[in-house]
Amino acid sequence: MSRPSLRIAAAGVVLLLGAGGLSACGANDAQTGGDSGDGAESPVIALLLPESKTTRYEAFDRPLFEAKVGELCAECEIVYYNADQDEAKQSQQLDTAISEGAGVIVLDPVNGAGAGGMVQSAHDAGAEVIAYDRLIKEADYYMSFDNETVGTMQAEALVEAMGDKGSILMLNGAPSDPNAAQFKAGAHSVLDESGVKILEEYDNPDWSPENAQTFVTDMLSKYDADEINGVYAANDGQAGGVVAALTGGGVAADALPPITGQDAELAAIQRILAGEQSMTIYKPIPIEAETAAEVAVALANGDEVGETSETGITQSDYEGVTSYIFEPIVVTKDNVADTVIADGFYSADDICTGEYAQACEAAGIS
Ligand code: GAL
Repeated sequence: MSRPSLRIAAAGVVLLLGAGGLSACGANDAQTGGDSGDGAESPVIALLLPESKTTRYEAFDRPLFEAKVGELCAECEIVYYNADQDEAKQSQQLDTAISEGAGVIVLDPVNGAGAGGMVQSAHDAGAEVIAYDRLIKEADYYMSFDNETVGTMQAEALVEAMGDKGSILMLNGAPSDPNAAQFKAGAHSVLDESGVKILEEYDNPDWSPENAQTFVTDMLSKYDADEINGVYAANDGQAGGVVAALTGGGVAADALPPITGQDAELAAIQRILAGEQSMTIYKPIPIEAETAAEVAVALANGDEVGETSETGITQSDYEGVTSYIFEPIVVTKDNVADTVIADGFYSADDICTGEYAQACEAAGIS
């Protein structure tokens, strides 16, 4: 997908969010396959997302997906569930979606490796499954960003910011999330060959910022703050916890070591401009959510799924699953304007609030 159409897509979401609602069916609405007016049942598409501590899911994935399905298939109904990081809850949500008549299930699993049973239940009920963002080997389709590259990009930026020397803490994602293993492998492929030493490594069970803060606070009782010359945080939520722990431990906000992130969360973009976080990974979620909507609508209507999506991505084989893989983008202070702002992911007004106005001005963002 080209930049301009991304911009339009993202701007559309801002408008929809601003209007306070969406045309497609809302949160956990129990929608059953209804009568579309001509006596035929309307297709039902289920969207199951894993958690809400990471802002992307409720702020971007869900509204973008719903808006695109609404655009492509006015008669389609959407049922939506968020599992709040609870695997058993997600499995029940899938059963409910099936009982509501879902013929297509877009599933971002809490536990990728453990989701095979859910796919089996869907298949037994005649439904097809799109693994969304996290791989499920048994799924019919899969779409995600190139996750190993995400980890590589994070680590390369960290090593560069540290001048290839010094010691770091490493905070990875949830072991149940298959992406977390890929981010970690990508990061290690760079760190292990670099001059940077890993003091301690932590696999955060649910990606939570609170756990990240606790881990780093504990580390500060083991190491002097000036022994921590950098922090690999696999996502922005954790980066926020790291910053809170370090500043809480007495490190001045303007003396923080380089800290990585991922997801281009608004708070992270602000920290980057303020010099409190060195980088994040921007995943243009419109392309992922819209490709998922396109494939879901084709399947729901019994149409053929095109080899190249309307979003411009050609199918590939990823671990035996027909897949669409998208490219992540590194964001630093230098390219905030050319990436998240140019794409309409955030406006300068979203970012440059209160205490960040000055940092925006210094970076030439207005
Ligand atoms: C991953 C996802 C990331 C991020 C992470 C939690 O599965 O790919 O974008 O949301 O979960 O931050």
